[in-house]
Amino acid sequence: MSKPVIAIIGGTGQEGTGLALRWAHAGYQVIIGSRQAERAEATAAELNEILDTDTINGLENSQAAAQAEICVLTVVSKVHASAVESLKDALQGKLVVDATARVIFPQAAPPGPPSAGRIAQDILGEGATVVTAFQNVPAKALRENLGQLVQSDVLICGDEMEAVERVIALTEDAGMRGLYAGGLDNGYVVEGITALLITMNKHYKGHGTVQIAGLKQ
Ligand SMILES: NC(=O)c1ccc[n+]([C@@H]2O[C@H](COP(=O)([O-])OP(=O)(O)OC[C@H]3O[C@@H](n4cnc5c(N)ncnc54)[C@H](OP(=O)(O)O)[C@@H]3O)[C@@H](O)[C@H]2O)c1
Repeated sequence: MSKPVIAIIGGTGQEGTGLALRWAHAGYQVIIGSRQAERAEATAAELNEILDTDTINGLENSQAAAQAEICVLTVVSKVHASAVESLKDALQGKLVVDATARVIFPQAAPPGPPSAGRIAQDILGEGATVVTAFQNVPAKALRENLGQLVQSDVLICGDEMEAVERVIALTEDAGMRGLYAGGLDNGYVVEGITALLITMNKHYKGHGTVQIAGLKQ
């Protein structure tokens, strides 16, 4: 089966470019989305240069979404809801993968419910399917050692198992183990783990990630 086209909304940033590199390296057609087409094109050109390819394109966010089957949300967390609202029409019919971790600064506190994914699903309605993933994966780890495994599990939350399974497959193609972690409402707990990791990485001066032990595959 041919691979789906992936649009990365807010794909000019740290997390979006990291994911774009991983999927483009794995043979996916990736479209970088931005509020400004020129910025998207410039980022796509930079990433193509890193990979020595020309398969990554750049478009304004709604145009990027229109051309993709899967749309990954990596806008800055404080604009998450307004960005989803502004792209409501463009995201209809899409599998939306929401990587938003709404860590509250300066204390790096976890957010409360509802999850970013639930907020997005409520805005988009039944016309789109939202799954949350990648909130705990540091952008730096995605950009390093392309083609090798990332030392991080990805906790994936969604209400539709078929959509969750698709995101698990996407995660594996990006070099990480994807694990089902319950319904969309569980996503705020995963966002909160990012807050813990930021606190722990500061305290222990490291780059800790999430790895779950003891599961049977
Ligand atoms: N960085 C990480 O290590 C990491 C790890 C896990 C999860 N995440 C999550 O990934 C998301 C992105 O994080 P990031 O660190 O990649 O952020 P970032 O680099 O600061 O920004 C991401 C993109 O957001 C877009 N943006 C900024 N203001 C906007 C607005 N008002 N409306 C619409 N789009 C806007 C920008 O794209 P344009 O200006 O081109 O439109 C920008 O390139 C966040 O939700 C974060 O919680 C990040």
